[in-house]
Amino acid sequence: MTKGYNVLFVTSEVFPYSKTGGLADISNSLPQALNSLGNEVRIISPKYGQLDERRLQIHEIKRLKDLKMDVAGKSTKFSIKSSFIHGKNTKAQIYLLENQDYFKNKGIYQNIKTKEDFSNNDERFLFFSKCVLEILEILQWKPDVIHCNDWQTALIPALLRKVYHKNPHIKDIKTVFTVHNLAYQGDFPKSAFEKTGLPDSVWNEVGGYQKGRFNFLRTGLHYADKITTVSEKYAEEIRKDKSLSCGMGDVLEKRKRDISGILNGIDYNVWNPSVDKVITYRYTYQEIPLKYENKRELLSKFNLPYKENTPLIGMVSRLVESKGMDIMVKALPELLKEDIQMIILGTGEEEYQKFLMNMKKKYPNKLIVQIAFDENLAHHIEAGADMILMPSKYEPCGLTQMYSLKYGTVPIVRNTGGLSDTVIDYKKADGNGFLFNKFDAKEFLATVKNAVSIYRKNKQKWYTIIRNGMALDYSWKVSAAKYMNLYKKLTS
Ligand code: ADP
Ligand code: GLC
Repeated sequence: MTKGYNVLFVTSEVFPYSKTGGLADISNSLPQALNSLGNEVRIISPKYGQLDERRLQIHEIKRLKDLKMDVAGKSTKFSIKSSFIHGKNTKAQIYLLENQDYFKNKGIYQNIKTKEDFSNNDERFLFFSKCVLEILEILQWKPDVIHCNDWQTALIPALLRKVYHKNPHIKDIKTVFTVHNLAYQGDFPKSAFEKTGLPDSVWNEVGGYQKGRFNFLRTGLHYADKITTVSEKYAEEIRKDKSLSCGMGDVLEKRKRDISGILNGIDYNVWNPSVDKVITYRYTYQEIPLKYENKRELLSKFNLPYKENTPLIGMVSRLVESKGMDIMVKALPELLKEDIQMIILGTGEEEYQKFLMNMKKKYPNKLIVQIAFDENLAHHIEAGADMILMPSKYEPCGLTQMYSLKYGTVPIVRNTGGLSDTVIDYKKADGNGFLFNKFDAKEFLATVKNAVSIYRKNKQKWYTIIRNGMALDYSWKVSAAKYMNLYKKLTS
């Protein structure tokens, strides 16, 4: 076995402590996968609101209690607590940063009542990033690599190079910056830069391009030693397609030799119908009839009848434009004229939530809508639905379609980003789903109708599609090794 690396994995969400989307799942599963390859990966993340410390087995660390940090001219106290996330035969230590000024509320990025972004998100994540670097000396454990994720942690490489560069204990640590979604950038007025303590040279190097604003993501792209995105296709798209480079084209071009795409992996101890702890009827690809028992149960929970030849189409998604909600809105009234049943679980923008609730009123016998973030229901939908919709405008990776493949829930997806890298069109012998190209309601609708028709008329083909999907292995096996290789390149 190659020598393992010490890695501090810095992230703004980790399941089960916090979650708004796929990043939380990755922050749980990737460190464990890397640890099983002989690395020592420890995670660090904010501790939002009041977690049940006993249930989650969160402990104090005496020497990391009541520390002080200055941010934006204010001094604030923080403590680092410790816990472990566990898999079947794997685990990873997690440090949780507790602070009353910035992370007292339950919301991760937004006020959970008003659904508005916290007005001090710049300070919150600057504070977090500075604490991460500050505690390295007292941790009594030194990482070879700090692995940052998304804009919330993107200042760390610059802080390391420009503020902590004289500290002999940490100055030689390397950085990896993984971009899970280039559209979320942490873009703030210039006053945010002034809070960072970064020298003016940083502003001149990165700030000048930003029309007087300070962009966390851009700063990360500029200073990280290596950059990754979460699928190969998305890595290519953000460099070639202006509409997807989100204003970062110049810095992506400059860093092209240091950017790579590594497809996310799935934790098959959690998202797997044969071991899933949430669902009632566990099944393998040889036991598809049991899948239909889950479907029956799911429908009955919402008082809808189970009908032999009527597909149940699911969607589990943030209800935002990038997830394809615009074309959903256009396609749904037409789609609901078909003999189908649908279940949609999501939270997000008010207009989409309202639209879905209205549609539910119109079609109470066909459509289930749950405006909620409900981890258990997400598992029940993966197990009980026949198909899942992901008409994304763009998709850096997407975990939902990979979960669906394992559950024999046929994905109907737009041909973009990680969806292109994981879903194979049903027309091919090894096809496992349905793809459409244009971001267009008509094409989307036609693709869903075609899937419904095959479901109904060609069961043999349908089972082949299901089996092809369930047979695939999108575990971390391959991708974790790729990250390890990247750490190796950086440190040798
Ligand atoms: P993204 O991170 O862009 O939202 P992914 O497909 O990578 O998309 O990951 C989405 C994750 O969030 C999945 O684990 C999915 O089950 C979960 N999820 C999304 N919306 C909800 C919801 N309303 N309730 C429960 N889980 C959700
Ligand atoms: C982001 C992306 C999603 C990806 C997830 C985990 O939220 O939108 O495509 O799967 O991060 O990397």
